[in-house]
Amino acid sequence: MALIITVAQQKGGAGKTMLAANLAAAWAGRHRVTLLDIDPQNSLGHWHKLREQRPALAAIGFAAVSGWRVKGELDRQSGAADILVVDTPPQIDSDAARAIRAAALVVIPVQPAMPDLWASAGTLKLVTAERRRVAVVLNRTPGKSALRSTVEAAFAASGLPVLPHTLGDRRAYAQAFAQGMGVTEAPTRSVAAAELSALADALLEIAR
Ligand SMILES: Nc1ncnc2c1ncn2[C@@H]1O[C@H](COP(=O)(O)OP(=O)(O)OP(=O)(O)O)[C@@H](O)[C@H]1O
Ligand SMILES: [Mg+2]
Repeated sequence: MALIITVAQQKGGAGKTMLAANLAAAWAGRHRVTLLDIDPQNSLGHWHKLREQRPALAAIGFAAVSGWRVKGELDRQSGAADILVVDTPPQIDSDAARAIRAAALVVIPVQPAMPDLWASAGTLKLVTAERRRVAVVLNRTPGKSALRSTVEAAFAASGLPVLPHTLGDRRAYAQAFAQGMGVTEAPTRSVAAAELSALADALLEIAR
């Protein structure tokens, strides 16, 4: 059975889809990876279509499903992959709850800003209620500033399992995404690729 890694966060635009795609791409060279999109917005489906036009890239399986079919699809896909990465919609509905329940690890991207910290409470409550392992990933972290220090102090005081591996606010993510790739697959090595690889390694270690 696959290791199921669910990316969840009820706050919209936190980076769930970007992170799901990049993690899948980073792991795809060494493992059989499938992406399961349970968000009807389907941006991961578009990314995967672009990817299929680039046969040189490592293959990633893809399925999109919602509603009562989610549980069955999780079971079916996890039988045929080493790692199943699940992208969820920006709400804690029954579909997201199913994907959280099935996960070995729930990854919660959060932008380091107070509204985003507060908006994470519902997602964390569900993950805790389901007793899932959880990793909070700070995404789009700005450069050092007084505001960043204030926000970091608030995150530290919140008791959230915030990983030391963070992702910066970088154009490389949007650039790679627009080509059906992950930042680790871009022809030139970038800071984004280095931070993403370190995060991907750390998450696999926690999930196993
Ligand atoms: N680290 C980053 N640096 C720069 N841009 C980023 C980063 N992470 C995400 N983005 C951009 O932020 C936007 C929102 O990201 P994404 O679609 O992954 O969020 P989401 O949580 O899946 O949104 P939704 O809740 O609508 O599903 C996208 O345009 C994406 O390219
Ligand atoms: Mg999304």
